[in-house]
Amino acid sequence: MTRVISVSGKGGTGKTTIAALILKVMVDVGKYNILAVDADPDTNLPDVLNIEVHKTVGEAANELKKKIEQGSLSYGISKRDLLEGWVYSTLIEEEGFDLLVMGRTEGEGCYCYVNSILTRILDTIISNYDIVLMDMEAGLEHLSRRTDKNVDTMLIVTDPSKMGFKTAKRIKELAKEVHIEIKDFYLIGNKFPLNFEEKFAEIARSIGIKPAGIVPEDPYIYEYNLNGKSLFNLPSEAPALQAVKKIVNKIGLV
Ligand SMILES: Nc1ncnc2c1ncn2[C@@H]1O[C@H](COP(=O)(O)OP(=O)(O)OP(=O)(O)O)[C@@H](O)[C@H]1O
Ligand SMILES: [Mg+2]
Repeated sequence: MTRVISVSGKGGTGKTTIAALILKVMVDVGKYNILAVDADPDTNLPDVLNIEVHKTVGEAANELKKKIEQGSLSYGISKRDLLEGWVYSTLIEEEGFDLLVMGRTEGEGCYCYVNSILTRILDTIISNYDIVLMDMEAGLEHLSRRTDKNVDTMLIVTDPSKMGFKTAKRIKELAKEVHIEIKDFYLIGNKFPLNFEEKFAEIARSIGIKPAGIVPEDPYIYEYNLNGKSLFNLPSEAPALQAVKKIVNKIGLV
């Protein structure tokens, strides 16, 4: 059985950073077959992991749409098989995990057909892994587009701001409204002073989301980001990494 975990929340709260650190903790455990999915059209996860991306899933889907429009597809090969091959070729194999970068699809016209075969292809890919970890785009849009439809555990990241908590609450409500069945919701407080743990937990409960824990502001993260170094190379004493490890264990992600 595949366990799908997603990381969502308001813009700039640290979703991509937290997703990368969770991924590192899971890969270090070494027991799982893991797929990381960058589901943000802005594509940031490969940046913080210092991974080069040659082609995104969105680009592959756009190519198929274009070929259908131009009528330039050769007979005898099914569109599903063609797209499946292209999507598999975008998978990036790293040590300890694979990475799938969704990127952007062009929005013009009705591409329901291509989107529906793409959905089926992605469902098949996901089923090949023990754990799928998704870095979502900011805000609520992914819920209405049902990018989260397979998610079992949703981790919502907030910074120490009223707006961050408000978005978190709205994400949980909207998931219910659009009938996405998520088993567990947890709130992660990022860039919180460590003496705010109790206050954070209190606010999390007041908005109906289980507190997973807080992650402090960590100078290592600035340094690695500015110098283009992969967060996978953070030293084990990095405070944010230690905090994420504690969270991963506490909520039973590994
Ligand atoms: N715990 C932390 N300590 C220090 N810097 C952090 C921490 N968490 C995130 N950052 C920094 O904050 C910025 C925003 O983080 P990140 O890109 O992870 O947020 P995001 O929620 O994914 O943003 P977006 O909504 O654009 O996808 C980045 O520059 C990142 O390096
Ligand atoms: Mg991000």
